[in-house]
Amino acid sequence: MCGIIGYSGEKEAVPILLNGLKNLEYRGYDSCGVSVLYENKLHTKKDLLKVREFGKTHSFDSVPGKKGIGHTRWATHGGAKKENAHPHLSGDGKISVVHNGIIENFLEQKRFLEGKGFVFQSETDSEVIPKMIEYQMQKGLDFTRAVKQSFGLLEGQYAVVALHEDGKMVALRKEAPLVVGVGEADGEYFVSSDVTGFLDHSKNAIFLEENDMVVIDDGFSIFNLDKNRFVDRPVTGLDWSAEEAKKGNFEHFYLKEVFEQARVLEDLSKKDMGTILEVAVEIAKAKKVYVVACGTASYGCMHGVYLFSKIAGVHVDFCVASEFHHFFKFLDSESMIFAVSQSGETADTLSAIRIAKSKGAKVVSVTNVVGSSLARESDKVILQGAGPEMAVNSTKAYTSQLAIFVLLAYAVDGRIDEGIEKLRDVPRQISYLTSENARGFVNGLAEKLKDQEHLFLIGRGLQYPTALEAAHKIKEVSYIHTEAFAAGELKHGANALITDGMPYIVFVSEETEKATMNNAMEVKSRGAFLIGVGPKNNDVFDFFIKVPEAGVFNPVVQIIPMQIVAYQLALLRGCDPDFPRNLAKSVTVR
Ligand code: AGP
Ligand code: GLU
Repeated sequence: MCGIIGYSGEKEAVPILLNGLKNLEYRGYDSCGVSVLYENKLHTKKDLLKVREFGKTHSFDSVPGKKGIGHTRWATHGGAKKENAHPHLSGDGKISVVHNGIIENFLEQKRFLEGKGFVFQSETDSEVIPKMIEYQMQKGLDFTRAVKQSFGLLEGQYAVVALHEDGKMVALRKEAPLVVGVGEADGEYFVSSDVTGFLDHSKNAIFLEENDMVVIDDGFSIFNLDKNRFVDRPVTGLDWSAEEAKKGNFEHFYLKEVFEQARVLEDLSKKDMGTILEVAVEIAKAKKVYVVACGTASYGCMHGVYLFSKIAGVHVDFCVASEFHHFFKFLDSESMIFAVSQSGETADTLSAIRIAKSKGAKVVSVTNVVGSSLARESDKVILQGAGPEMAVNSTKAYTSQLAIFVLLAYAVDGRIDEGIEKLRDVPRQISYLTSENARGFVNGLAEKLKDQEHLFLIGRGLQYPTALEAAHKIKEVSYIHTEAFAAGELKHGANALITDGMPYIVFVSEETEKATMNNAMEVKSRGAFLIGVGPKNNDVFDFFIKVPEAGVFNPVVQIIPMQIVAYQLALLRGCDPDFPRNLAKSVTVR
């Protein structure tokens, strides 16, 4: 999904760009690069390095320019190679471009431009952008118009920053995130994939709308390509601090964010419940409610289906967002889409709500990012307030989503105070589960699992989506093949997988104990190494992690030791817990 950044002001650009890329690195990290304008020339360096190493390896001391752009990549077209790293240049070297997204018709445009004599240096789709702009300028258009004309021809989803050696910077967004930071000094601007790219320098943001094009030269203007006119966008004060987006005393964002969960849920329990109550009314009114999300957020939604049924006797349907467009035919104005997305920029989730809106459905959402596309495109939005979540592996955002689902279910049933009362006890339980002792004990399990190739997890009821999320956590950062099943499904096929000593993690609650323990016996009798997670030990377990019974909040407390196991496994297996291979924090491409 990559991170893009631009700076124009009176300070040296490169240190600002590199710092911004470091903060954006969670969006993509297979290569990076910078272009800086100095003495009317663009100076570009890029490499197959993480931002920190890049800054140490490549010096820009001799080119202290005050305008520049930078990119940290997550490849979609063309492998992770130096020549595919951004920025990409025009043939005459006068235009440099960084790009987030996909140019869907790039092959056709590349062939066209090659026919005009352009020579390409990379395998990427992105390189058609600077060369198309150059071609439009050869036809007599000025830089800004050439950018506008180019994006009339290039199809796809993109956020782009283009810098010309004459000093003009143009940025635009179409179905990919881009936000402007307004610097303290007059005429100082940042353009970034998200606010973390400039949070160290400014807490004032302009959230761009779809097809906004920003022009930064001596002045600053925003032109909307749909409306075909200049537009004003409000400046929003950000309540995130730069410190929150940093690791502090932690070695990894992942562990920092695991530890923040108690405080996040404490804050949630004290939050004004107005929006939750309003959304609950909408859910109760709607004829058909569909919850849609991707990845970890989707497992949060699966819990939501159980919780709405269990607490409020309300039926909602769940669908992973990337599949939702197969079902939009039955959506109508009485439908309601409930979208959940930590980043608020996941392309599949945004695509799902856009389809729903085209059918007249109402869209409510839960997101952790103020000003995100999802927040702005929803009829109502519940902001999680969990603070920036930087680790690719979602933890605090996930448990905050679970808690919001519980509160919503109680609100739908007219009993929100009961939900808040139950929530108030959870932070204490999380603090206990993240204590030194509890973590040390769980680390013992990681030692036992670290050389495993396969790991299976089972549960019933609310513990089934918990097993799915736990599997997701472990696979994402340890690269162990983990798979979760509804415990009752084992006898329908999965039992064929059991071999002697095969590790099975079994999630148990008071409500599901009897049936789940039968399944545990099933796998144990076939040789499984059984790890129990729940309130009560049992002789059948080879390893037991005690987690207090928390009723509807079992999904929150039971995932905590799994988050810690996943983290420990990553360390033991030499994986990066914050930046796992092939993944990125916000999947802004479909
Ligand atoms: C979570 O650990 C993963 N990084 C991933 O599955 C993530 O949950 C998914 O990409 C959805 O992200 P979102 O919540 O920002 O939409
Ligand atoms: N499609 C571009 C590339 O592969 C950008 C990828 C991204 O947005 O991460 O370089």
